[in-house]
Amino acid sequence: MAGFDRPTPGVAIVGTGAIGRAVAHRLLAGGRDVTVWNRTESRARELVDAGALPARSVREAVSSSTLVLLTVKDHAAAEQCLAQLDPDLSGRTIVGMYTGTPSEARLAAQRVASLGAQYLDAGIQASPEMIGTDAATILYSGAPQAFEQHRTTLELLSQPRFVGTAPEAAAVWDLALFGVWYDAQLGLLRALETARAAGVDLVEFSRTASTQLGHVVAAVSATVSEMQQRSYPAGPADLTEHLTVLRHLIELRAGRRLGDGGLPEVVARIEALIAAGRGGEGLTATVE
Ligand SMILES: NC(=O)c1ccc[n+]([C@@H]2O[C@H](COP(=O)([O-])OP(=O)(O)OC[C@H]3O[C@@H](n4cnc5c(N)ncnc54)[C@H](OP(=O)(O)O)[C@@H]3O)[C@@H](O)[C@H]2O)c1
Repeated sequence: MAGFDRPTPGVAIVGTGAIGRAVAHRLLAGGRDVTVWNRTESRARELVDAGALPARSVREAVSSSTLVLLTVKDHAAAEQCLAQLDPDLSGRTIVGMYTGTPSEARLAAQRVASLGAQYLDAGIQASPEMIGTDAATILYSGAPQAFEQHRTTLELLSQPRFVGTAPEAAAVWDLALFGVWYDAQLGLLRALETARAAGVDLVEFSRTASTQLGHVVAAVSATVSEMQQRSYPAGPADLTEHLTVLRHLIELRAGRRLGDGGLPEVVARIEALIAAGRGGEGLTATVE
């Protein structure tokens, strides 16, 4: 086992699931020395066959390299891996490369700092097959010097985007961006479920649904500008008109498998704004 004071400039991958495997293959293709450890040893074998060095323990993997990527399932798994390490990891950067919450990112940063290493939190906006392509974005936050030190290696995986020195910044971006996808996709599923239950032709319906989704995309920059300027013009409908439609929608969605999408909270917010004399404003006023 390599001594803890002599890491190579290679990369250790802890966790060779779908993301870990994709990351390791890309780093190998990019000419990096890659050491791999996986809880279930057999799942790391394909990477060893491809040229990675096998580690017999998390400790051995971490001791081998200056950059350690924790590509495990979640924060609990990362904690279990970190618990196996000695507090003498100076010179190393540990990256939490899994989907987690902002508070988990803060805990991981504290844990890694207590081991003497630098921490980066990563949010993966990519599927395994996108790793290493222009379609992949990976968000990083935490120690800026660690990001700069390893930037060329991280660039092999995606367009790396440093989003803040607070350790939780990448998790905030990551979850908020996943939220955009879930809200849009679940909104589509609710609409399709309702249409199907009413015997509507789904292919016909989906053409107009696509146009509606396009309206959301087209309004992104105007919405941001309204929030920045704290100015909420009504646009095609004001809050009193939105209220009527949203009440109809809650009635239509009653008893549906995917629920009402939290619309009662939005309606309560709109009612409060109307009561405050702001019924002539637009929907963006609800986030003030
Ligand atoms: N796959 C995607 O498209 C995607 C996209 C964006 C973000 N992510 C995120 O990336 C992370 C990894 O996802 P994945 O798709 O690679 O998951 P995965 O294929 O299920 O792999 C999970 C990895 O975590 C390891 N693991 C689980 N529990 C462990 C523990 N207690 N101790 C040590 N190792 C443990 C597994 O080891 P074993 O082989 O021994 O089970 C495996 O290597 C997740 O947080 C996921 O949300 C994934």
